[in-house]
Amino acid sequence: MIYALIVAAGKGSRIGSDTPKQFLNCKGNPILTYTIKAFEDNPKIGEIVIVTSFDYIDVVKNYIKLYNFKKVSAVIPGGDTRQLSVFSGLNYISNNCVIENDYVLIHDGARPLVSQEIINANCEALKTHECVCTVINDTDTTYFSQDGSKIDSIMDRNCLYFAQTPQSFKFRTIFKIHKDAYGNRDLSSTDDIQLASRARKEIFLVRGSKRNIKVTTPEDLQILGALLTTPKF
Ligand code: CTP
Ligand code: MG
Repeated sequence: MIYALIVAAGKGSRIGSDTPKQFLNCKGNPILTYTIKAFEDNPKIGEIVIVTSFDYIDVVKNYIKLYNFKKVSAVIPGGDTRQLSVFSGLNYISNNCVIENDYVLIHDGARPLVSQEIINANCEALKTHECVCTVINDTDTTYFSQDGSKIDSIMDRNCLYFAQTPQSFKFRTIFKIHKDAYGNRDLSSTDDIQLASRARKEIFLVRGSKRNIKVTTPEDLQILGALLTTPKF
């Protein structure tokens, strides 16, 4: 079974809205519903687990009824950090499955434009790799500066990649990595590939897309509005 674990328990502080960004409307639907639909529509995904903050559990359950999503098996409370929210989702999955051949695609609820191609590429890569990261190439020249006022070095952009999600794993592998990191301050991270990399796992890269934006700032909402072509569903 391949699970999709969608994390949507953040507060969205950088966007400056009282409502967490994943619950804001864009072109007629809450942002999170586009994200759920992408995984619902992919035949390779067997089950979807959604992590959200306690106050929004009923909101998400209402979306599931309203949009008739069939694959969502659980909506569970997250934690104060993304890492804790992912761990909460992994714990739920571990209580309900874990046979040798289970896999998980971990995805940001705030990335509603993830495509079927990207989901397929992650699933395909899991046939031969334990840890998979969606990335895009750096297309701008990139500088390294420690103080932000003068350049220390110019990076070779051909070797630079930006991380996106999904980040995908053999379930047992990422669950062990998260268990080891739980409670260890030195092992905190903003994404799961960082944890896997620190655990010295080999990370296989699959190509994402510039469209697969993470809604982070108010400008991103405008970009999302321009990119969304899906009519109200
Ligand atoms: N996330 C989560 N639990 C947290 C923090 C983040 O599930 N405690 C989720 C967010 O809902 C989002 C994804 O992780 O879908 C990526 O995080 P980010 O873009 O940083 O979202 P927020 O933390 O909500 O935003 P901000 O950092 O601006 O407050
Ligand atoms: Mg955050």
